[in-house]
Amino acid sequence: MIGRSIAAGILALGITAAPVAAQNYPTRPITMIVPYAAGGPSDIIARLVAQSMGQTLGQTVVIENVGGAGGTTGAARAARAAPDGYTILFHHLALAAGATLYRNLTYDTINDFAPIGLINQGGFVVVSKNALETRTIAELLAHVKKVGRDITFGNAGVGSGSHMCNMMLQSALGVKFTEIPYRGTGPALNDLVGGQLDALCDQTTSSIPQIQGNRVRAYAVTSTERVAQLPDLPTLREAGIPGFEVTVWNALYAPKGTPPAIVDRLYQAMEVALKDETILKRFSDLGTALFPAGQRGPDATRARLVAEVEKWRRVIAESGFVPSN
Ligand code: MLT
Repeated sequence: MIGRSIAAGILALGITAAPVAAQNYPTRPITMIVPYAAGGPSDIIARLVAQSMGQTLGQTVVIENVGGAGGTTGAARAARAAPDGYTILFHHLALAAGATLYRNLTYDTINDFAPIGLINQGGFVVVSKNALETRTIAELLAHVKKVGRDITFGNAGVGSGSHMCNMMLQSALGVKFTEIPYRGTGPALNDLVGGQLDALCDQTTSSIPQIQGNRVRAYAVTSTERVAQLPDLPTLREAGIPGFEVTVWNALYAPKGTPPAIVDRLYQAMEVALKDETILKRFSDLGTALFPAGQRGPDATRARLVAEVEKWRRVIAESGFVPSN
C-alpha cells in the first residue's frame, strides 16, 4: 500500500510540475538556433526578433549560428534538444526543401518540431560582383547561357533558398553554372563584394544595403511583384522566365513535445516583436513583410510547412535536380 501511495504522490508531483515549469518559464537564457552563418539574412532577422523576445520574456535569447548542410545541421540540433522551451529554431523554406533533398535526415521535418509562429516573408535578388561585364538581367542571363560553368554562383548549401533559386535559374535557362557553397549567404556576399565570387541569389534583407552602397550590382528580384526598395529591378518573370518565384518565409519552431503553454509564451513574445515600430521599419527598409495578424500562429506555421514540403518536392522534381546524398 505504501508503494502505491508513493507512486501516486510522484505521479501527482510530476503532473503538477509541468504547469509550474510553464508558469515560471523562462528562468534562464533561451538559445535560438540560426542554421546559417552570422551576418546573413537569416541571422539579421533572427537577431532583431530575438532581442525583442528577450526583453518581453525577461531572459536573454542567445543566437547560436549552426551552419552546414543547407541548414539541416542546425535543424537537427534543434530537433534533438530538450523540449523545455530553452532551445528554439529559426528557419525558412530550406526546412521544407530539405525533406526532399536529404535522404538521411536525423529528424522528421513535419513531426519533430512544435511550430511557434511565422515571422516574415520576402524575395531574393540576383546580384553580381561589380567587375562582371553585364549590366542588365537580359545581359546576365545571356552571359550565363554563353559561359555556363565558367561563372560562379554562391549558395548556402543544398536546399538553401539561394540554392533553390540557382536550381530554378539553371533549369529555366537549360544551362549549368558553377555553385560555390558557403555556410550562409553572409560570407558569400562578402566574397561577392570582394570580387572572389561572380554572382549570388540572396535575400533582399541582406543584399539591399550592399546594393544601395554600390558594392554589388543588382539585376532582378525573385518575387512575383517588384520590391518597393528596388523599384527599378524587374522580376525574373518580367525578364522572361514564366512562373519564376522564390519566396523566403521565416518561422520559429520548438522541439516536438515542448509544452503548449511554453510554445504560447514564445509565440506571444514573437507577436510583441512584430508590433515593434523599430523592427517594422527595419523589415520594410530591407524589403520584407509580415504575415497577416491572426494568420501566423502555430497552426498556420504547421500548415505552411506542410504545404511547402509538397511545393518544393514538386519544384525540385520539375527542375530535374538530383540530390547527391
Ligand atoms: C539561404 O540562402 O537559404 C539563406 O539566405 C542563407 C542565409 O540566411 O545565410
